[in-house]
Amino acid sequence: MDRFKIQGGRRLEGEVRISGAKNAALPAMAASLLTAEAVHLKNIPHVRDIITMAKLLAHMRCKVESPDIPPSEFVIRAESVSHAEAPYELVKTMRASVLTLGPLVARFGYARVSLPGGCSIGARPIDMHIQALEKLGATISVDHGYVEARATRLHGAVFRFPKITVTGTENILTAAVLAEGETVLENCALEPEIPDLAALLVKMGAKIEGAGTPTIRVQGVDRLHAATHTIIPDRIEAGTFLVAGAITGGELLLKHCEPQHLTAVIEKLKECGVEIKCEGKGGLRVRAAKKLVAADVNTEEYPGFATDMQAQFMALATQAHGISHIRETIFENRYLHASEMVRMGANILVDGNTAVITGPAQLSGAPVTASDLRASAGLVLAALVASNTTWIDRVYHIDRGYEQIELKLTALGASIERVTQQS
Ligand code: EPZ
Repeated sequence: MDRFKIQGGRRLEGEVRISGAKNAALPAMAASLLTAEAVHLKNIPHVRDIITMAKLLAHMRCKVESPDIPPSEFVIRAESVSHAEAPYELVKTMRASVLTLGPLVARFGYARVSLPGGCSIGARPIDMHIQALEKLGATISVDHGYVEARATRLHGAVFRFPKITVTGTENILTAAVLAEGETVLENCALEPEIPDLAALLVKMGAKIEGAGTPTIRVQGVDRLHAATHTIIPDRIEAGTFLVAGAITGGELLLKHCEPQHLTAVIEKLKECGVEIKCEGKGGLRVRAAKKLVAADVNTEEYPGFATDMQAQFMALATQAHGISHIRETIFENRYLHASEMVRMGANILVDGNTAVITGPAQLSGAPVTASDLRASAGLVLAALVASNTTWIDRVYHIDRGYEQIELKLTALGASIERVTQQS
């Protein structure tokens, strides 16, 4: 198992290229199941969740090819799918495997997907995915830990999501495009990954209006065809590098990002005193605050402040003057990084869904354990300002969603090393 050894206290400086968005690439890859023709996806990040999705598609007998190594593009052909099944072994390592449910039942009339179960950040049920597919005419049974969905052909329907769900919206959108008639989805997620998925589906021949608004209308078509699509930049990776520049007293230029997708994060960092400005096409320059000041954050659905940036903001708040309050409203257990930051010397009190951070605290290196993807990013950021050496265990979590983070940080002047332990 790999660990990171980080020597803190270095100011980061330079340019960093932001990768394609993992959470946009995953539904796009699942959407390739909707056609027998080639779907060509560009700007794919080389992260572990993407490799898992490629393995899952290959398990279903799709052809997944890439012109380069490591792959930054995929050409996926789902001519015939012989196993319409997402097995437990793959779903347990990546919940987003559930995104194959909608496309499989829409095109093949059958899907069997392992129930994801809970994970370290919360219970994370998929009840709304199931309810919506039933509304579209699928017969669903849940047995032996698997969801089985059957339909001769899905039909259009009106469905209102009782609560906003990102992958729920994506799963049902990718089912509705091949359903007979009109589907109206209400209370949809607004995250930029949704209009990106819709853009790919429209290139494949789908008829969709309103993606990126609460109401999405879909006129089902009989078949979809080949398409080429470039995945949007990763707004969470970009947000993480904004914090990296700010927390180390540095100055960074982020390239190939989409500043419009980062409005809430940029506003919050500016409130803390961080200087951020757009530079050229897809460029964002971050310059650390002269004096970092505390700010309060509520995590919210897009366009609010993303839960996926909460751990990184907490690391920054440990260095800010004053008291910051964070309220996590999306997941019920997303503070596992807080106790690890406390072990590094942070002053953080967690009460229910609220964390109170008093700063600035002089962090000192300690052995810590990563509990999930964004928690690991928060710990890396904290380690970058800690004195002495921090060892972070279980960095496989960070490999799920950050492309070569240690190489990108090293190029900016950080001292971070991957150490592979012999088991
Ligand atoms: C997506 O997860 C992202 N994953 C998550 O990113 C992100 O944290 C989350 O959206 C919120 O922005 C991908 O896009 C692959 P939800 P998702 O359904 O879709 C509850 C990362 O670090 N809910 O929007 O699974 C759920 O428990 C990851 O990259 C139900 O109750 O999240 C949660 O409390 C982590 N029933 C809330 O809704 C359902 O059927 C929002 O979850 C579905 C969800």
